[in-house]
Amino acid sequence: MSEPSDNQGLEPPADDWVRAGTLGELEARGMTVVRGGTCPLLVIHDRGKFFALDNRCPHLGFPLHRGSIEDGILTCHWHHARFDLVSGGTFDLWADDVPTTAVEVRDDGALWVCTRTRYPTVRRIGVIACARACSTI
Ligand code: FES
Repeated sequence: MSEPSDNQGLEPPADDWVRAGTLGELEARGMTVVRGGTCPLLVIHDRGKFFALDNRCPHLGFPLHRGSIEDGILTCHWHHARFDLVSGGTFDLWADDVPTTAVEVRDDGALWVCTRTRYPTVRRIGVIACARACSTI
């Protein structure tokens, strides 16, 4: 069974979670969008891990599910702003960071997503940790 993503840490009430689908469904799709508390949430499977982010690009609000993923980085389809899947931090200073939220695998074999998003705790201070080479920073 796949491990949940690293973007954990929230402890919301149990009713603040939404079922995104079975792990097999999500792995087959790669991306899916579910309803969040205040925004649509983009759920992503990348290299055996799952991530969830606000589906609205912080640059101009276009849907991030139209973007592409490579090496743990989500690139917006519209103006190519890049975001780290783990932290939501942007690599392009003209865009803002994208809020992320927690995910967890439950006993029903499904991935559940917290409906409350949060901004990265470290914002544009030094190097933003990424899923590729910077993970030990
Ligand atoms: S709307 Fe995403 S980069 Fe501009």
